Parts: sequence; C-alpha cells; structure tokens
Amino acid sequence: MENIVYRNPVAEEAEKIVDFYNYVGGETSFLSFEKDEYPLGVKEQEAEIRRLEGNANNTMLLALDGDEIAGIATINSSHKVKSRHEGELGIVVAKKYQGQGIGSRLIEMLIDWCKGNGVTTRIRLDTRTDNTPAVSLYLKFGFVVEGCLRNQTLLDGKYYDLYIMGMMIK
Ligand SMILES: CC(C)(COP(=O)(O)OP(=O)(O)OC[C@H]1O[C@@H](n2cnc3c(N)ncnc32)[C@H](O)[C@@H]1OP(=O)(O)O)[C@@H](O)C(=O)NCCC(=O)NCCS
Repeated sequence: MENIVYRNPVAEEAEKIVDFYNYVGGETSFLSFEKDEYPLGVKEQEAEIRRLEGNANNTMLLALDGDEIAGIATINSSHKVKSRHEGELGIVVAKKYQGQGIGSRLIEMLIDWCKGNGVTTRIRLDTRTDNTPAVSLYLKFGFVVEGCLRNQTLLDGKYYDLYIMGMMIK
C-alpha cells in the first residue's frame, strides 16, 4: 500500500501500541498471546519505547495508515555478550491490512536495519508449522527451517508444532 508510513514509535504512542497488540491477539491464533494477553501495560510500553531509542540491537517498526496502526514488527536481542548478535523477529499485520505487501516491507526494513546495526549477524524466529502465510513470507526472505519444537503450543485441547527459523546476515 502506497499510503503506509513506516517508522519507529514515539513514547506517546504506547497506548495505541498496547491496544493494537491486545486487539490482534484476538484476531489471530498465530501469536504467542491471546486477546488482551499482551504482556505490557501502557507505562511499561512507554518505558520500552524509550529503551529502544538509540538501542543498538533492539527495535520496533510501525506501519501506519494515517493514525491507525496497520502492523508492527520488532527485533529483540539480549544484552549478553554471547548472544547479543542474535535478533529475534516478531511481526503482526492486522487482518484488514494483510496480503497487501506490508509484512514484506516490514521484514525487509528490519533485515536492512540488522545489517546496518553493527551487532546482529543472525535473525531467528519461531512460527507455528501450520502458519502458511508466515512460513512463506520468511522463506521468501531467505530464512531456513533450523528445527522443530513438537507440541510447543496448546490451543483448545490441540497441540501444534513450532518451527525455529533462522537467517545469517553476515
Ligand atoms: C504473516 C503476516 C505478518 C504477513 O503479513 P502480510 O502483510 O499479509 O504479508 P504480505 O502481504 O507482505 O505477503 C508476504 C508473503 O506472505 C505470503 N503470504 C501472505 N498471505 C498468504 C496466504 N494467505 N497464503 C500463503 N502465503 C501467504 C506470501 O509468500 C507473500 O508473498 P508474495 O505476495 O510475494 O507471494 C500476517 O499474515 C500476519 O500478521 N498474520 C498473523 C500474525 C502472525 O502470524 N504473525 C507471525 C507469527 S510467527
């Protein structure tokens, strides 16, 4: 979509971000959290946005349609010496904005950010093996399946497997 703006969040957008995550948690079963289960409250999200400002190996990218959040993608990394080179990618696009290239653009921008941050050399993520759109998206950008965690997710009495996917960027 041509009118979508991609940028980092500002602290004043904390509530909008928390609301978005709590909403999309109920829209898809593919996220690790359910509706209203997003782990951060507004104050914590605000602190998190401030923590990300100028952070070398952690970032958040918003896709905005005017004032409305269409999608969010993140890279989370440890500060530990032995693992700070590994960034974990998270992404969600709201249902009404899916299939329009927003997820692709978010991932592309995050990969570029990782390539330029001077720290990250590996990106990893977990995804349910039956999440076809997400698995296709990750394969398209060069991620490979590195392993599978069996019965990792339990939802309505049914177990689901998770792929561990990774990509080396240097
Ligand atoms: C996965 C997700 C982020 C993709 O975002 P999106 O904006 O719809 O993605 P795009 O429009 O850029 O599509 C990118 C690619 O995804 C794949 N894709 C998207 N929808 C698909 C579908 N219904 N079936 C199969 N592949 C699909 C295709 O490979 C597509 O590439 P192409 O258009 O070049 O063929 C989005 O579907 C989403 O947020 N889903 C719910 C939350 C989620 O699953 N997050 C990931 C958890 S690991």
